This record gives sequence, C-alpha cells and structure tokens, in this order.
Amino acid sequence: MTWIARSRLVSAVSAAGAFGLLESSVRDLRVTSREFRAIRAATDAPFGVNLPVRFLKDDPIEESRIIDWLVEHGVRFVTSSAGDPTRYTRRLHDAGVTVYHSTATLRGAIKAVDAGVDGLIVEGAESAGLRNPDEVHSFALLQAVRERVDVPIIAAGGIVDGRGMAAAFALGAEGIAMGTRFVASHESPVHENYKAALVAATITGTSMLDYPPRARGRGLRTPFAEAAAQGRELTQLSALLTDLYVDGDVENTAGAAGESVGLIHEVKSVEEIVDDTVRTFWKQIDRLASLRG
Ligand SMILES: Cc1cc2nc3c(=O)[nH]c(=O)nc-3n(C[C@H](O)[C@H](O)[C@H](O)COP(=O)(O)O)c2cc1C
Repeated sequence: MTWIARSRLVSAVSAAGAFGLLESSVRDLRVTSREFRAIRAATDAPFGVNLPVRFLKDDPIEESRIIDWLVEHGVRFVTSSAGDPTRYTRRLHDAGVTVYHSTATLRGAIKAVDAGVDGLIVEGAESAGLRNPDEVHSFALLQAVRERVDVPIIAAGGIVDGRGMAAAFALGAEGIAMGTRFVASHESPVHENYKAALVAATITGTSMLDYPPRARGRGLRTPFAEAAAQGRELTQLSALLTDLYVDGDVENTAGAAGESVGLIHEVKSVEEIVDDTVRTFWKQIDRLASLRG
C-alpha cells in the first residue's frame, strides 16, 4: 500500500502483535531506509518489507540497492508481489531471508512454489487495489491453492475481523492479511475523508476500474468511478492518490478499497483491530467446535 504502509502504520501493526509490512513501491532507497529506521526506532517487534517486482525492476540499479540495503540491515522477512517470484528468491534465501510471494491466481501460486518461495499470500478478487484479470474470489481460490501446495498460506481479501480469519483458516490458510481495514485506522496516514468514505461505504460500495495502459483495480464506487466506467478519461493514478490521501478529495478519485468496506463500521486504532480480530477468531473457533456437541 504505497505511501500508506509506512513507519506509523507498520510499527503500530507490529507493536500490536500482528506483522507489519513496509511498502517499497516508490523505488527510492532514501524513503525505504528512512521508513525502515523509523519502524526500528518505534518498536522492537518484527516487521517485513514488500518488494513489488513490477515497480522495482524498471530501475535495476535502485532495485539492487534497496535489496542489498535491506539484507545488510537485517530484514528477515520479505514478500514479493506483482511479478516474477524468481527475481529475488535465490538472492534473499542466500542471505537467510524468508520469502513469501503474493498472488491472485492458482497458476501464480504454483509458479511461486516452484520458484522456491517459503509461503504465499493468496489474494481473492474481493481485495482492494490493483487486480489480476484472471482472479477468482477467496472462497474457491483458497481451497484450490490449498489442494495444490504445501507451503503456508496467508489469505487476503474481504477480511476485517476474526470471523473472516476463522473462515480463511477453514479454507486452508494459516494466516490472514488485511489492507482496507488498516487504511481505516487511526494510525493510517491518509486524509480523514478517505477513512470516512470507507466507513460509509456499503457492501456494494466498490467497483473495478481500468487504469490505462494495463492496470485494473478495485476502489470506492464514487461519482468519479461511475463517470470513468462510462468512458470518461482517468487522470494519472499517482495524481489521484495524492489528491485523495493528502487532500481528501473522495468524489473526484476512486481510492483503493476492497469489498470488505461493507464490514467496516468505524475507524479504530490498530491495537483495537488486532485485539478484536484475535478475540473474535477464538470465539468463532469455539462456536464451530461446539457444533460437535
Ligand atoms: C489503499 C490500498 C492500496 C493498495 N495498493 C496496492 C498496490 O499498489 N499493489 C497491490 O498489489 N496491492 C495493493 N493493495 C492490496 C493489498 O495489498 C491487499 O492485498 C488487499 O488490501 C487485501 O484485501 P482487503 O483490502 O479486503 O483487506 C492495496 C490495498 C489498499 C487498501
């Protein structure tokens, strides 16, 4: 989550007992190293770094500098996403780093396991942000991936609490990842208007939009999104994000949001989100166990 998954949010997530992931899509070692240090200063809890292949590989020199820096500074866990899982796995494994790959398809999951990754983040079509044209929703996808791979699976998409977490575990996952839920947290750096729009959105409050030349993403179904869907040209994705994250212009943007918006009813602290999730997870597990009588 470009610009959002930085020190304030990542350190809060890790300090709450979950596992924060620092974004590096800006492809700028100065930013990544600054944020990395800020997280280290804020908490002793472990955190990881996401390496989005598609964004990094366009500048191989900066890409290498970022990976070398992270390895030298003792990063222990990395996720790769949006691209070829073979690109970093060997280099990172040689340095003793655990590598999970993020994918939205069964084919991508099998390819990543063949490339030697240690685990997967499996993103269903409910998820926010840039999407794969071949994706399916989590219910079928998680089972399909579980049937074919033995590595740990982190489920993403449509999860905001322990009910979703218990469901994901039943479908074959060992962990969960949440995006939209954490954007609507007190520690998220985005404008309050964006958080309020996430809280206000209903279960049908998102839509898919094309971002030419090749991206497609799920975001809030705003007046802007409706107009864009009818063929009005979109302005640059990066400009939209600045308008929304910093200036809070919800109506003239289509900020990333998953179908999970319909399950988010208030902005909470990260600690509350994590605690509620774990508590309701065990409640659901007890409820299911009681079915045995
Ligand atoms: C504001 C925001 C920005 C995101 N940006 C990206 C992105 O640039 N690339 C990507 O692969 N996923 C992106 N995601 C998707 C998340 O990494 C995660 O897979 C997704 O949010 C999970 O679904 P959920 O939102 O229902 O929890 C973004 C999500 C949000 C909410």
